[in-house]
Amino acid sequence: MQINQKFWECLSPVLSELKQKINCDFVVFGSTPLYLLGVLDFERIENLNDIDIAVGDDFVSSEEMQEVYFHDEPNQKLYKILIQGINVDIGPAWPGREDIYDKIFRDSFEVGGFKFASLNTVREWKELMVKEYGREKDRNHLEKIKDFQKRKAESVIVADATLEDMENVLSLKDEVWVSTYTNKEHGITVEDIQSRKIHNAQRLDFMQKSVRGKSTTEHIWTAKNGGRIVGMCWVERKDGYNKIGSLYLLPSYQRMGIGKRLMEKALSWLGEEKKIKLGVATYNSDAIEFYRKFGFEFLCKGEDYVFPNGKKMPILQMVKYFEVKKQ
Ligand SMILES: CC(C)(COP(=O)(O)OP(=O)(O)OC[C@H]1O[C@@H](n2cnc3c(N)ncnc32)[C@H](O)[C@@H]1OP(=O)(O)O)[C@@H](O)C(=O)NCCC(=O)NCCS
Repeated sequence: MQINQKFWECLSPVLSELKQKINCDFVVFGSTPLYLLGVLDFERIENLNDIDIAVGDDFVSSEEMQEVYFHDEPNQKLYKILIQGINVDIGPAWPGREDIYDKIFRDSFEVGGFKFASLNTVREWKELMVKEYGREKDRNHLEKIKDFQKRKAESVIVADATLEDMENVLSLKDEVWVSTYTNKEHGITVEDIQSRKIHNAQRLDFMQKSVRGKSTTEHIWTAKNGGRIVGMCWVERKDGYNKIGSLYLLPSYQRMGIGKRLMEKALSWLGEEKKIKLGVATYNSDAIEFYRKFGFEFLCKGEDYVFPNGKKMPILQMVKYFEVKKQ
């Protein structure tokens, strides 16, 4: 991952001091990840308004912190502290904002041992701020994020998978499974997901055969950035219906139109002769919304996915019908 080194050199001493002071798990969000990733131009640390920090339940405030209320709302308490001349705003999850806080923690990336909210989470946060408070600064940052993501997406190439891609396709799936399917409510942990041993020789052989034989019943595409696989889609033609088997993008490539490009390839290859089915985890609301955009609707409860230790991931089936031949 490319980061702005100059910014990082200014930021890391502040975060190191903060870590000593608060001594709990935290994620940096707000505008700071935007400077770090090069979405916003950085000149001097003094230009940084503040650093926003999300903390978990284990946070304990201290006397040197000042209690303030975000937009004067009594349930939006913040703790302000000045570190090396920079205002640091520390916030535990506010009532009604638990979902976005959960995302800030779940969908984060690490630099130098510190966690930062992903670009998509910052984008979501800024969208929320624009909607609720209409701040010009957030609106401007949103535009910058969209431009940045557009430029990144333009460098991604979607094409038929090759034999050599298959090993990396399986690794990609393993990586995206962890970020997509860990779930507190269903008790699904990273260890459960890693225990699947999906990356085995049998599976690799199976996938390579479908590419090698130029199968007319299966097809795989990859999305690549500079040769690195960042996404994949696998579809199947079956008796009576067609199927989207897998569709996965690395978190830092999601929500910038690449899934749409893969989906368009898949839909065009499968054609409109038969309905198309797919299975999706019931709690994967982002993917469900994505599929709805392409005309998929709920069909029925699917068969649970069972992990090697017996834990279950509930699945629901979605279907897309075609007008011409109602099947
Ligand atoms: C689900 C996934 C494939 C979607 O791909 P993506 O590149 O993130 O989505 P795109 O940016 O191409 O979005 C395409 C459209 O869907 C919409 N969309 C995507 N996610 C959405 C969401 N969570 N809520 C509402 N709309 C959403 C976009 O707004 C866009 O609509 P538009 O064309 O009108 O602007 C991708 O996010 C992913 O890999 N997620 C993790 C793995 C996963 O869940 N895979 C599916 C397993 S069944």
